[in-house]
Parts: sequence; C-alpha cells; structure tokens
Amino acid sequence: MEMFDSEPEAFAKYTPLILEAIPYVIPKGNTVLESMLKYHLGLIDEQGNPAELPQLGKLMRPILALTVCEALGGKPEDTVNAALALELMHNFTLIHDDIQDEDEIRRGRATVWKIWGKNMAINAGDALFTIATKASLSTQLSPGKRLRIANVILDAIYEVIRGQCMDLQIEGKPSTSEASYIRMVKAKTGALIGASFQVGAISSGANIATVNKLKNAGVLLGIAFQIKDDWLGVWGESSKTGKSNTNDVQQRKVGYPVIAAYSLADSATRQKLSRLYNNKDPRLSTEIYKILDSTDSSAKTLNAARQYKQMSDKFLLSVLPESPASASLVSLSNYVVARDR
Ligand code: IPE
Ligand code: IPE
Ligand code: MG
Ligand code: MG
Repeated sequence: MEMFDSEPEAFAKYTPLILEAIPYVIPKGNTVLESMLKYHLGLIDEQGNPAELPQLGKLMRPILALTVCEALGGKPEDTVNAALALELMHNFTLIHDDIQDEDEIRRGRATVWKIWGKNMAINAGDALFTIATKASLSTQLSPGKRLRIANVILDAIYEVIRGQCMDLQIEGKPSTSEASYIRMVKAKTGALIGASFQVGAISSGANIATVNKLKNAGVLLGIAFQIKDDWLGVWGESSKTGKSNTNDVQQRKVGYPVIAAYSLADSATRQKLSRLYNNKDPRLSTEIYKILDSTDSSAKTLNAARQYKQMSDKFLLSVLPESPASASLVSLSNYVVARDR
C-alpha cells in the first residue's frame, strides 16, 4: 500500500477557498430548512450554535476540480463556485444516501434524518440540489463555460441517482457479479468524480479530447475511491472515518469486500453468505465478519482499489503537462487509496 505521512498539500491550499464560499450560498432565513442545511454543511451544531469554521468532509471533489484546473493552466479562483457546486451536490446525495442506508452517523455527527426525521431530511437534500445547481451557474467564467459546467454536473447527478438505484437493487445479494458492482460504483461515485475532473478541465479552457480523457481518469479514480470506502466501511476506524464500521454489514450492503469474499469462497461458504445476506438479524452479522476475515477479501479489496487508481493515473499522465500541479494531482490519487478517513 502507498505510504503517506500527511494529506496532499492541495487540501491545505484549496480548502479555505471552498469553505469561505459556503455561507454565501445558503439562502437567508431561519426556518427548519436553513437549520438543516447549515447543520449538514457544518456551520452549526445540533443545538444551533455556530461552528468556528465549517466542519465538512474531505472536500475531495472540489479539490480535485481546482487542482485539475490549475494543472491545465487555468485560474482556480475563477471556478470556485463550480467546485463548490460539486461539493454541494455530493452533500445532497449524502443526505438522501443516509436515509436509504439508515446510517445514523456521518462526519462524526448525527445524520440529518436522525435529528429531523426522514421526511424532513428529504426536503433538506432537495433544497441542497437547487442550491448546488445555482452555484454551478454563478462562477466568474464565460456564460458558455458556465452552461457546459452545469450540464456536466447535472448529467453526472443523474448517473449518481441511477447508481444509487442499482446499489439498492443489489442489497442483500452477495452473488452479484464484479461487473455489475463496477457498473454500480462507476455510476454512484465515479460519475461525480469524473465530473469534477471535467469541471476543472472546462474551466481551464482545455480542448474536448483533454476534457474527455480527464473525465475517464476521474471516473476510474471514483471507482477506486468507492472500493476503498467499502473497505473502510468494514475495516476502518470510526473515529477516523466519522462513519459506522458496522452498518454496511448490518444493512447487508453489497460492497467490494463481500463481492471479493464470495468470489474467493468455496461453494458451501457461498451458500452460507447468500443465506446470511438474506436475513438482517443483527445476531448473524458476526458470522458474516468471520467469512470476510477468513477469506482474503481485505487484501483483494485493497488490490482492486489500487488497480483502478493505476488505470486512472495512466489517463492523467497521458494529458497533463509536467508541473507542480500535475504532481499534486498524482499525490491526490495516491491519497484516494491510501486514506484512512
Ligand atoms: C462518501 O464520500 C461517499 C462516497 C462516495 C464514498 P466522501 O468520502 O468524499 O465523504 P466526505 O465528503 O469526505 O465526508
Ligand atoms: C456513496 O454511497 C455514493 C453516494 C452517496 C451517492 P455509500 O453509501 O457507499 O457511501 P457512505 O459510506 O455512506 O458514505
Ligand atoms: Mg451510505
Ligand atoms: Mg449508499
């Protein structure tokens, strides 16, 4: 596994730009809707007290977009709101995802639905979608670029939602083929990371061939990202990820570790896995962990993440001129598979 001592410098470089822009996109008002939005975006805590600096996640998508933009000679400052739009869209999908997955913790805090209920949380997600769309149209870029960016992001979100449908369809089915799993994560996670690369490239004025190659790099990196997320959902530390490391198994979600265990197991164990995944009784989860741990599914999962990352790097290196920003993009791609949060 790639070693890293600290987070890539792109995080420290771009995070303030993105965080500073967040308060301005939340509509004025003091209703429950603004409370939910401010809470989810880390501006206030559960009691409504302001947080000093927004407590968000890794900001992976906007940071990738701004790094790509700079690597291609563009000006990151001009496209901050489009980068922010990617983050807001991501957060809209997370609010709904936590309802769908019945996850109670995200970023170390209670999920929106856990506090306000599922019906209300659906409204928060919907609102965030509208805010994100507006942000994507509000950059300093030319009207033509703004429209292209909004289109790219909206097309990606359609893909994400299609992927979320596939995710729900394969829940409880460990016999799902690796190909179906990859189609699912390519949509639910690859699409928006692909769009992040496209947004960066379009902002910089890159030609269409470059934009498309970078999209491919982003989609592949997104697949690697999700496979690592699946690994963290089983073997990660909650105190670092800010998420549960038992809920994926408890909800019988079919992530890469399960697909890997099924493919490595003998036929009796496969049948057992299918039976266990057909029943959400929490007492059966220990049996599932035993199978995940007794097969080589952890190593196979990490290996798959690395392979997709390497495929992504090939596309990246085929189009990017050598520069500090390109190097920074490669260190971000290393981080995607090496991260522990
Ligand atoms: C979590 O995304 C959902 C996936 C697509 C795997 P992130 O891991 O980017 O979440 P945050 O934004 O950093 O919290
Ligand atoms: C990731 O969903 C994709 C989207 C949110 C669209 P997951 O359900 O796999 O991610 P986490 O682990 O809850 O963040
Ligand atoms: Mg989830
Ligand atoms: Mg999910």
